[in-house]
Amino acid sequence: MTDETIGSVGYRDVPAEQGGAAGRTWWDANAEEYLDEHGDFLGAVEFCWCPEGLREADAHLLGDLDGRRVLEVGAGAAQCSRWLAARGVEVVATDVSGGMLGRGAALNASTGVPVPLVQADARRLPFADASFDVAFTSFGAIPFVPDAGAIHREVARVLRPGGSWVFSVTHPLRWAFPDDPSTHGLTANRSYFDRRPYVETDTAGRVAYAEYHRTFGDHVREVVAAGLLIEDVVEPEWPADNQEVWGGWGPVRGAYLPGTAIFRTRSAG
Ligand SMILES: C[S@@+](CC[C@H](N)C(=O)[O-])C[C@H]1O[C@@H](n2cnc3c(N)ncnc32)[C@H](O)[C@@H]1O
Repeated sequence: MTDETIGSVGYRDVPAEQGGAAGRTWWDANAEEYLDEHGDFLGAVEFCWCPEGLREADAHLLGDLDGRRVLEVGAGAAQCSRWLAARGVEVVATDVSGGMLGRGAALNASTGVPVPLVQADARRLPFADASFDVAFTSFGAIPFVPDAGAIHREVARVLRPGGSWVFSVTHPLRWAFPDDPSTHGLTANRSYFDRRPYVETDTAGRVAYAEYHRTFGDHVREVVAAGLLIEDVVEPEWPADNQEVWGGWGPVRGAYLPGTAIFRTRSAG
């Protein structure tokens, strides 16, 4: 949205269905701009977990994928899935936004590394029970829904017993600080415990963007309630050679505060 089309900005409760629906309409409207801004950093056939630049090639958070069937939810333009496909992994990329998947289709064609793209809300996946060995998302879906528990339950349903679900999200601690990559962003100015979403409305008062906060404990409870076991939580440090500024993420804050949490979980099966 531009300054002319934004009606209001702030932290406030909105009806859950409006907040969740904005997860599709905002990404449809902003796919182009988002990928023009961040596409180079993300790459086209690259698996990046977070603005810290942690790559799956180095982190191996998904483990050995030989012979495994893999699902990506909230895949955006499916760069991560494409990186896996280029290594011979059977993978399906899903996202709720047709705009983001359209950019994914363009990258499928331009890179010569096509991956199947399926439009789906991560809370209602169009797949059979126990049909994947591994599922993951890099910052997809979870921050944009009021009911992340629904995503965890749905992923648990489509995973085979013992299958793994790995997801990266904004580090919960960040909520207490201004979304500013400079030193101004180092002073807490709001409550970590305030769960009201960050909401932008359009000039007609409709919810155009909503981002939801969960404390660390909230994430743990939602994952465990879905019948998943937590194996690890990775908090990537900011590498000295990464000068990228991405919204409130950047080297200045990265030197002091975590920006990302990556949960490695497993279906108890
Ligand atoms: C920050 S992008 C992450 C995608 C990709 N990893 C990237 O870094 O560009 C967030 C993605 O979540 C998707 N998303 C939002 N709400 C969703 C939902 N309920 N179900 C599935 N995807 C959703 C958006 O369409 C968007 O493509």
